[in-house]
Amino acid sequence: MPRPHLEFVQSQMLAWRPLEPQSGRAGVERKLLSADPDSGASSNIFRYPAGWQIAAPQRLGCAEELYVLWGDLRINAIDYGPGDYAYLPAGYSRHAMGSVNGAVVVTFLEARLTPATADAPVAAGLIDCVRGNELPWGKAVGSELDTAAVGFKLLRLDPDNGDRTWLLNIDVTPGEAFEINGVERHPCVEETFLLQGDMAMPMGRMRTGAYFWRPPHIPHGPMGTQTGFLGLFRCKEGGPFATEWSEARGPIDWQAPYAPILPAGMQLNHDYDRGQAY
Ligand SMILES: [Fe+2]
Repeated sequence: MPRPHLEFVQSQMLAWRPLEPQSGRAGVERKLLSADPDSGASSNIFRYPAGWQIAAPQRLGCAEELYVLWGDLRINAIDYGPGDYAYLPAGYSRHAMGSVNGAVVVTFLEARLTPATADAPVAAGLIDCVRGNELPWGKAVGSELDTAAVGFKLLRLDPDNGDRTWLLNIDVTPGEAFEINGVERHPCVEETFLLQGDMAMPMGRMRTGAYFWRPPHIPHGPMGTQTGFLGLFRCKEGGPFATEWSEARGPIDWQAPYAPILPAGMQLNHDYDRGQAY
């Protein structure tokens, strides 16, 4: 069974839970955003407490992709702060890892979080650090997104399967709105964590901290933002990323009630603190 369609959840609605002891990261908590029941691949927010460090060098049996939301995280000789990104392939060694003041980190794992076997090689594709906030904004090519208001930063592109990770920003002049009146679909999974702003969708309005995992070929739109939008995106399973636009166009429903598509059994706390970012 593939990872189920989830669209969308505010991460504030999800509970922090301790990471499993076999992860080698005792003391770290996570919010599980979505997971593949077969491979164990998952999308998460990890929370590292102040003063945390690994007890022994570790290598994971899967790739770990991370984007820091808040705080500080040190892996080997690299200090990561807010906006910093890395793709650490399976078998990558962490001889030191810790946080001075604590950190909150969007973390994508390509399988269950377990140690690599001692003889496992290091997989290809290492990106040990991208300073996301320092990258220049490029253009987002593709019909309605190809405007001066929309910026694009590529963080990772897998040359073999087309998997891609990127930032997309939409600037909105106060009092105005950015509207995508068409309906789009992609041949791949589209996964998004909303870092800042809002996006009104037919199933409700996403705000900072919102997350979705949308399987291939699912139509989505119309949609729009009134406060701007900054999102962390991934294309998985079916790349390269491409967008097909419908002929049909429609108005944005700015007041659509929250009516998400959720995996069976997902527990949500609807009574969350709306001042929290995640
Ligand atoms: Fe899309």
